[in-house]
Amino acid sequence: MNYTVVLPAAGSGKRMKADKNKLLLELFGKPIFLYTLEVFQKDPNCDAIWLAVKEQERGLIENYVKRYNLTKVQGYATGGTERQDSVRACLEAIPPCGVVLVHDAARPFIDKEVIVNLVEKAHTSGAAIAAVPVKDTIKKAENGIISETVDRDQLWMIQTPQAFRYSLILEAAQKAHNDGFMGTDEAMLVERLHYPVAIVESTYENIKMTTPDDLIYGRAILESRLQ
Ligand code: CTP
Ligand code: MG
Repeated sequence: MNYTVVLPAAGSGKRMKADKNKLLLELFGKPIFLYTLEVFQKDPNCDAIWLAVKEQERGLIENYVKRYNLTKVQGYATGGTERQDSVRACLEAIPPCGVVLVHDAARPFIDKEVIVNLVEKAHTSGAAIAAVPVKDTIKKAENGIISETVDRDQLWMIQTPQAFRYSLILEAAQKAHNDGFMGTDEAMLVERLHYPVAIVESTYENIKMTTPDDLIYGRAILESRLQ
């Protein structure tokens, strides 16, 4: 089942504490965002890739896209102040399609099977998001004192990709913008319209390159895949 992918790549990577957008940092000589792009370039079900980028980084990113022959990249949108603004700009720029996948450019290790399952689920039920079961015991604390231990059986750590019917996510993103609502993922924008969002189990390898230690894990994952 085919889909279009929207990749927000217009952040600055403050938590990575590098001197540039973390997506341009290299793992074994290749910038992080290219690993992500290559997953979709190689996926026969992916029709088109759209990127949200910072205006001042567009030239640089376009050059990489040409050099790595990423022929599925069909367009760019200018990213906004918040991730949600970048995603909306991209959603408004893409041609209408059946299913759209929103995926952080900062998650290069997404599994192919998970993508297939997400797209299928979104096709049938409208919205599906990648997630993994919580591993640790989770507690709430007030002023440094535990107030509650939460039952983790029902808890999931949410990742991207998040897959949606195109018309549904466009409506949800535009409504959130008009209402001044800011969520931490796309699913929240759909949930507030009372549409059901399905969970698709993903892998723990699908980390988001966020802090400097993630570079260590990233290298380890790449090394393990060479074996
Ligand atoms: N992103 C974006 N536009 C923004 C902010 C983030 O397109 N205004 C993108 C990032 O480039 C990244 C993805 O959204 O691919 C996930 O965001 P995050 O991991 O938070 O990246 P940054 O915002 O760049 O990092 P930080 O929050 O540490 O500054
Ligand atoms: Mg951020």
